[in-house]
Amino acid sequence: MTRVAVAGLGYWGPNLARNFDELAELTWICDLSPELVAKFSERYPQARATTDFADLLGDSDLDAVVIATPVPTHHELAKAALEAGKHVLVEKPPATRAAEMDELVRLASTRDLVLLPGHLLLYHPGVVKLKELIDAGELGEVLCVYGNRQNLGIVRTNENALWSLGVHDLSVILYLLDEEPVEAIAHGRDFLTTGVEDVVFCYLRFPSGKIAHMHLSWLDPHKMRRITVVGKEKMVVFDDMELERKVTVYEKYPWQRAETYGEWQTRSGDIYIPKIANDEPLRLECRHFLSLVSGDGDRAKVARDGAMVVRALEQLTDSLRG
Ligand SMILES: NC(=O)c1ccc[n+]([C@@H]2O[C@H](COP(=O)([O-])OP(=O)(O)OC[C@H]3O[C@@H](n4cnc5c(N)ncnc54)[C@H](O)[C@@H]3O)[C@@H](O)[C@H]2O)c1
Repeated sequence: MTRVAVAGLGYWGPNLARNFDELAELTWICDLSPELVAKFSERYPQARATTDFADLLGDSDLDAVVIATPVPTHHELAKAALEAGKHVLVEKPPATRAAEMDELVRLASTRDLVLLPGHLLLYHPGVVKLKELIDAGELGEVLCVYGNRQNLGIVRTNENALWSLGVHDLSVILYLLDEEPVEAIAHGRDFLTTGVEDVVFCYLRFPSGKIAHMHLSWLDPHKMRRITVVGKEKMVVFDDMELERKVTVYEKYPWQRAETYGEWQTRSGDIYIPKIANDEPLRLECRHFLSLVSGDGDRAKVARDGAMVVRALEQLTDSLRG
């Protein structure tokens, strides 16, 4: 069984610890806080506990390190783990600059290790359904994709809306289109906290001509968690606020009558709601990591895809600040 350590036991890390305790062998838990280490030692008495990340790396029996610490620490901890020969699952984003991410990807590649960024939404069965529909050609040629991630609150003061909310939608858009944007532009304003944009609009353009947009905000009357994909034959909406109709497929499309050549009309047909499994996305993410560690799947591609997200984030951030 794969031996896993979880570092960072704040808000998110305990969810990862629970899953790896159930799916693998949780052999280490780690946090800078002795109180958190003591608390989780009671829950996982079989796991060794430490406040020093270096202890994990010194254990030659340990296979993998899961990093759920704050974003600014990700690159340094992931780099140290890869250098110590450990497979790494690191919360998103694994690095804040593209050059740092490229360094992690190179390290993972030369040592043939897994470097999986924790892009949770990619494991949401609703997003997986969107990908299936697109790849099966159900929507016809995909023209554009846009994400809405808006609400009133939670107002962050240390991370802007692009970094706090946008990483999710960006990872989904790049996964769905499987292309690297040639243009990535962001505009936003820091209305509440100087230097922390509360409202961000992003535009992405891809080599194939597809375009994408993201509206990210915690100053909005609507609570929206939605991705819309517009195809030439069908359109589909993934709405994570819905309980029973997470994905809705619309047979709506532009249509040109042969006899009035040149004049565009539109057509509307059925609307259908495919069944979406209720599986816990984090469970699926952890399983994916373990299967990559055991040699299944394309470990090099997941690391490269992670780098594409960080590169786009960097371009959007530079554009926002520019
Ligand atoms: N995928 C998701 O949906 C999702 C949701 C929430 C958070 N996250 C990600 O999880 C990560 C952690 O977020 P959080 O909300 O749990 O933060 P948090 O601040 O609640 O917890 C982070 C923990 O890491 C510990 N820590 C910091 N440096 C450390 C080090 N060098 N070694 C060991 N422990 C260290 C801190 O003591 C703290 O307990 C972030 O990257 C965040 O983006 C992902």
